[in-house]
Amino acid sequence: MSDSDKTAELEFNDTSLGLPILSPTLGPDAIDIRRLYADGGVFTYDPGFTSTASCKSTITYIDGLKGELLYRGYPIEQLAEKSHYLEVCYLLLYGELPTAAELEDFEARITRHTMVHEQMNYFFRGFRRDAHPMAIMVGVVGAMSAFYPDSTDVTDPRQREIASIRMIAKMPTIAAMAYKYSLGQPFVYPRNDLDYASNFLRMCFSVPAEDYEVNPILARAMDRIFTLHADHEQNASTSTVRLSGSSGANPFACIAAGIACLWGPAHGGANQAALEMLKEIGSVDRIPEYIARAKDKSDPFRLMGFGHRVYKNFDPRARVMKQSADEVLDLLGIENNETLKVAKELERIALEDEYFQEKKLFPNVDFYSGIILEAMGFPTSMFTPIFAVSRTVGWIAQWKEMISDPEQKIGRPRQLYIGAPKRDYVDVENR
Ligand code: SDX
Repeated sequence: MSDSDKTAELEFNDTSLGLPILSPTLGPDAIDIRRLYADGGVFTYDPGFTSTASCKSTITYIDGLKGELLYRGYPIEQLAEKSHYLEVCYLLLYGELPTAAELEDFEARITRHTMVHEQMNYFFRGFRRDAHPMAIMVGVVGAMSAFYPDSTDVTDPRQREIASIRMIAKMPTIAAMAYKYSLGQPFVYPRNDLDYASNFLRMCFSVPAEDYEVNPILARAMDRIFTLHADHEQNASTSTVRLSGSSGANPFACIAAGIACLWGPAHGGANQAALEMLKEIGSVDRIPEYIARAKDKSDPFRLMGFGHRVYKNFDPRARVMKQSADEVLDLLGIENNETLKVAKELERIALEDEYFQEKKLFPNVDFYSGIILEAMGFPTSMFTPIFAVSRTVGWIAQWKEMISDPEQKIGRPRQLYIGAPKRDYVDVENR
């Protein structure tokens, strides 16, 4: 990033300001407004931050018009095809692809932190069996600082590194425990001889009563889902983690805040909502009814799994996910999956419909991921927890970058106050 010598001239009231223009490696320039209030006495107004860069970052770049997603400069399509999740974790955390020795060491460190403190098992007992696994994950992850107090000092780089490894390693175990708890089945311990995705599938689907062999094609599809969801620039949950971290909160609390934000149906909860929508539609002949509802401004219904704040042509992750969906369903012999038929017909119709073309609405990452996860045997309630497992590395990488950013300070936005003017208290007998 270069501080260009360009400035934006701003004239308002009887004030004239020259605001520096910052030029990035990729993407649009940014007008540096940090001095705007001090020098000009005005705020900017941008609810939803549609035109606001909240930070400088070197981690992920998205080009919404080209449908481009780069992790540390590498296109997501290449990483999904040639890399694997833990290598992508290393890339996101440290900025470069690892050598073979670095990768082996990193994978060993993650593997050896996959168990959780045995006392945490009792945490789950406090939840009802029908508790949503995201409710459990928010609670259990938030409480991790009580179990691992030796990695909560955010000013100590060594403790930040230990907390990072612990979070990435333990999230699959916690998510699997939440799933097993909902089933009334015993928790399954991780195994150090399995890769990350295989370990997760085994912790979710094996039972003590019989041996369980992980299907390598399902493990590969799971690993690819993890890779595709690993990071995504300054999305709502990542911004939540950054804002939480800016106060100096411990990393476990910040990740718990990110999990809470991800749960929303407009964000990470969309994969669950998208599949439930496809099931509600039920058959191809009912699609027009739902398309009409999505267009009806008086109807709050939205096509879940469609649209995106940044991507205005297509979500590159959805393309890779669609390919995985076909592979998994072929493998499982579910080619006549009614839900997939509805999904493909809905996608075809929506992409041809001029309303959706005008609004730039097309399938996003959540549209196909739910179909794969359901085919694998996961209930819809586990879709967002799986998104959270994957996004933990992105949250951690962004949190570490924020902590190390010399320009970072506690996030404290202002407001446009439109409430009552100053007025005096009125005694109750006079109201
Ligand atoms: C994720 O930010 C990220 O990077 C997120 C994410 C990540 O990896 O972290 O990519 C993951 O959250 C993907 C998005 C998952 N959400 C959904 O699939 C839920 C359905 N989609 C929408 O709710 C919506 O598209 C958003 C939230 C994704 C984007 O909302 P925006 O950018 O605020 O856009 P908008 O709501 O202002 O919509 C623009 C217009 C509106 O119409 P007008 O008011 O301009 O007339 O498009 C319409 C909306 O009504 N619209 C839809 C629609 N999405 C937007 N109409 C019908 N169905 C939809 N899905």
